Amino acid sequence: MQHHLQDSFGRTFPYIRMSITDVCNFKCGYCLPNGYQVDKSDNRKFLHLDEIKRLAKCFSELGVSKIRITGGEPTVRKDFFDIIKVLKVETGIKKVVITTNGYHLDKKAKLLVDSGLNGINISIDSLDRETFKNVTGHDRLPEILQGIKNLQDLGFENIKINAVLLNGINSSEKDFDKWSNFIRDNKIDFRFIELMQTGDNLDYFKKYHVPSKIFKNYLTENKWIYQTLGKDAGPSLNYINPEYKGRFGIIAPYSKDFCKTCNRLRITSRGDLRLCLFGNTGVSVRHLLQKDDQLSELKDLILGQMRFKKESHYLELGDTGSTKNLSKTGG
Ligand code: 5AD
Ligand code: SF4
Repeated sequence: MQHHLQDSFGRTFPYIRMSITDVCNFKCGYCLPNGYQVDKSDNRKFLHLDEIKRLAKCFSELGVSKIRITGGEPTVRKDFFDIIKVLKVETGIKKVVITTNGYHLDKKAKLLVDSGLNGINISIDSLDRETFKNVTGHDRLPEILQGIKNLQDLGFENIKINAVLLNGINSSEKDFDKWSNFIRDNKIDFRFIELMQTGDNLDYFKKYHVPSKIFKNYLTENKWIYQTLGKDAGPSLNYINPEYKGRFGIIAPYSKDFCKTCNRLRITSRGDLRLCLFGNTGVSVRHLLQKDDQLSELKDLILGQMRFKKESHYLELGDTGSTKNLSKTGG
């Protein structure tokens, strides 16, 4: 049997996205427009620190070097900083990064740097305070921007910003110019993600989805240069410009070759292994996270799942798999 993660199409998986909670304190229109709703019939809690540790250790032994912690909003967990520290110190995983909505980032910046975190992706859909508030339901743009500044003042390097491209909301040339000014002297990667249809958001999707080509055209017109993909590049198309410290990127899940570079597997907050964000294929591994001596059984289960990973998602056919919204699988 093989000893590292590889699927039937030759793709390897050095990278895991692990959700540690479904709970989120924002109300993004495309994800949780009414906020997170507690499901009272569901009394299973999110993965515990020990379970997360065992799982990460197992992945590390299967060749995984990087774990991205997502949510929901991962920082709402009381033991969030313990999780980062344990992953860094006790699992063999080399790079631990997070995706966050930036809530209280100004106050958390120092703790994040001290935790040993290797990178942070912050979601900011607009640099306009009102627009930001309308999309997320929270007037928190200033504290997030201050948080980024604090991280930079502390010498933290690997900062990325993601925005979901929304037609008529953040898709004008003026919006693009604002980001362009922002990254001129800021060593930050900014990426637009095409809005994806999920089980919950069909009306929103129809209203606001716009192909990322409009941003691509903007980049070409403004002399941004497409950077060819490195080997483990992942799905973002990156653009550089010698006059800018930051980079631009596009994540276009509806594009033809998007899945070819797929290098990630997902773990949901309740311990299901998901082979694709939009697939129906997934299996719970939680029963094998209960004791240290289950490690080899856990490895076998995960390795055995690899042959079920499909070549591509079927999003373009409107098939969203079992994904109701991204707060459960962390984007
Ligand atoms: N389409 C595209 N991106 C989404 N995100 C959440 N839901 C969607 C969606 N339906 C993004 C968030 C964040 C990342 C985790 O996923 O804005 O940047
Ligand atoms: Fe929360 Fe992220 Fe969903 Fe926005 S997109 S509601 S920040 S989980």
